[in-house]
Amino acid sequence: MKIHNQNSRRKFLQLIGATSLITATSPLSSFAAQAKAEERILRYDKKIGSIDKVRLGVIGYGVQGHFDLATALKVPGVELAGICDLYTGRLENAKEQFGKELYTTNNYMDLLDRKDIDAVFICTTDVWHARITIDALKKGKHVYCEKPMVYKISEGYPVMDAAKKYGKVLQVGSQRVSSIGYAKAKELLAAGEIGKLNMVNAVYDRQSSIGAWEYTIPKDANPMTTNWDKFIEATEKMSFDAKKFFWWRAFKEVGTGVAGDLFIHLLSGTHFMTNSLGPETIYSTGQFSYWNDGRNMPDVMSGVMQYPKAKEHDAFQMTLQVNFISGTGGQEIIRLVGSEGTIEVNGNNLSIKHSLMPEAPGFGGYDSLFTFSKSMQDEMQKDYNAKWTTDQRNKKTKEAIFFKVPEGYNDHLDHITNFFDSVRTGKQVVEDATFGFRAAAPALSCNESYFTRKIIQWDPVEMKLK
Ligand SMILES: NC(=O)c1ccc[n+]([C@@H]2O[C@H](COP(=O)([O-])OP(=O)(O)OC[C@H]3O[C@@H](n4cnc5c(N)ncnc54)[C@H](O)[C@@H]3O)[C@@H](O)[C@H]2O)c1
Repeated sequence: MKIHNQNSRRKFLQLIGATSLITATSPLSSFAAQAKAEERILRYDKKIGSIDKVRLGVIGYGVQGHFDLATALKVPGVELAGICDLYTGRLENAKEQFGKELYTTNNYMDLLDRKDIDAVFICTTDVWHARITIDALKKGKHVYCEKPMVYKISEGYPVMDAAKKYGKVLQVGSQRVSSIGYAKAKELLAAGEIGKLNMVNAVYDRQSSIGAWEYTIPKDANPMTTNWDKFIEATEKMSFDAKKFFWWRAFKEVGTGVAGDLFIHLLSGTHFMTNSLGPETIYSTGQFSYWNDGRNMPDVMSGVMQYPKAKEHDAFQMTLQVNFISGTGGQEIIRLVGSEGTIEVNGNNLSIKHSLMPEAPGFGGYDSLFTFSKSMQDEMQKDYNAKWTTDQRNKKTKEAIFFKVPEGYNDHLDHITNFFDSVRTGKQVVEDATFGFRAAAPALSCNESYFTRKIIQWDPVEMKLK
């Protein structure tokens, strides 16, 4: 069904914010940022006139399932058709929210069998992502799958193959890939704003129990209410453990730790900005610092990755860090370091600082010169003065630049809108299965490196472990 509705267009523009107005009055915004923001509104202005209705099913209606669905329903033409979850309380919550008539089930295959569903969001525990994605594509559904695309590296090719074979849209849910802030950073990096990239330092720190994944466990959690037998169909057989159901990230049997939860965001963002296909060596180390709650995945972890020189970029190193008991109070920063400056990505905002070397080599000051005889010092100073002008000896300066996205800007809405654009128009998705796998594999390799204490060798072009 086509929608020709000015009201929904207006409503949508309100939801994404009065972008052009806000950027115009922001003292930090550049002309380029304004142009970018205005371009987004124009893009939607064009499309909104005739958009197909898309009927959506949600599989996994926990925290992110709620956020993803609420965001999807802001996109005009998207309608909720059904919700699947294993925990009874979340299906009750779904009916409380959307009415008793809403189709709900705890069997995702039943939801996939429904003819009135065009697309599904997969927001389950990581261990189920690959299996449900393949089943959904096979059933002819378009898929938006949360990150990490896979729980195991061996699942990557089957998912990529299914995306090709069934010809449906598959987009992975790393919303930073659709951020106008990240797009600006990508553009500036390619334009040589910070010289040649040689290092990326990425940090995602937290300091709270919720941040460390200790979400509230409902009082009625038991093997029946959580459909535990179904839950462990995708894992090794385990007796019921409410923590493994509700705090799954912290357990290797069901989750992927900080690497799969947060390194993956830092990797997706970095791959997007640098156009990189990925690293060739991966090393990681971790420790248990504070959250003594039975978890078997570290709460403090670092990774070091070597990205080889490629046609897309020069060789660079990436360091990744997550600290769940960080006295910083929490921070999320990706700092791209080049030979002439840095781009710091903080949330969706950017700060660009420059540091340029003088043309002339150093001479004097903290140098060996003062240790020579007076006559040698004088003679060499004369030579230096004759060779280099004052201008060549001075460090050049270049102003810092800040880019702020408009207030209320939401990269998640952009990412989900991009997904529905692809569903409707068949245009290339912003984060396809290959991109998703190229980010997931190094993240998962961090866990492998942590457990085996080995450096993992990865072929980023062929996407294979070496
Ligand atoms: N893009 C982001 O910024 C972002 C943020 C948070 C979470 N996530 C991702 O979203 C996913 C869900 O995370 P969450 O925080 O919502 O977890 P959650 O524990 O709150 O919710 C997961 C839900 O999946 C359900 N589930 C598990 N297996 C199922 C199955 N076979 N069929 C149907 N339902 C099933 C569970 O019952 C649970 O309600 C994860 O993959 C996570 O990495 C992404």
